[in-house]
Amino acid sequence: MTTALCPGSFDPPTSGHIDVIDRALSLFDRVIVAVIDNPSKDAMFTAEERVALWSEIYGDRVDVTRFSGLIVDHVTEQGADTVVKGLRTVEDYEYELQMAQMNRHLSGMETVFLPTKPELAYISSSLVKEIAKLGGSVGGLVPDVVEKALKEKLS
Ligand code: PNS
Repeated sequence: MTTALCPGSFDPPTSGHIDVIDRALSLFDRVIVAVIDNPSKDAMFTAEERVALWSEIYGDRVDVTRFSGLIVDHVTEQGADTVVKGLRTVEDYEYELQMAQMNRHLSGMETVFLPTKPELAYISSSLVKEIAKLGGSVGGLVPDVVEKALKEKLS
C-alpha cells in the first residue's frame, strides 16, 4: 500500500490544492493531508478550522492530520512513503526543490512534484484572503465550504 502525505499551510484550502490532492488520490492508495500548526504565521484560520475544512471537503476519502515540527518526523509518524507537493511556477520549483533535497538529506524521504493545471496556477491562499478581505468574489478559486467559511470569518 502506498501512502502520500500532502503538507501545507492551507490557509485556506484552494481549488489548486484540491487539484493536487485529487491527482494524488489517483496515484496513491492512501492520501494524508497534513496541516501545519505554525503559531508564528499570521493565519486567518486556526489549524483546527483548517483541519475541519479538509474533513468537510473530502470526508473519509483522505486522512487529515495536524503537525508542528519537522515534516520528515510527521511523515515517519504517519507511516507515509512520499510527500506530494504541487508546483505552480518556477519560483515554486526553486523553493520546493531545496526543501525536497533537504528533507531527503534529513531522512531519505522522497518528494513527488505534481505540476498544477495551468488554469489554476495563479491561485494562492494569500491572494484568496486578500480578495475576500477587500470584498471581491472568490467563487471558483476555493471550494464552496471555504467560500462560506471566508464569508463567516470576515462578517
Ligand atoms: O503551504 P506551504 O506554506 O507552502 O507549506 C510549507 C510546509 C508546511 C510544507 C513547509 O513549511 C514545511 O514542511 N514545514 C515544516 C518544517 C520543516 O520540516 N522545515 C524544514 C523543511 S526542509
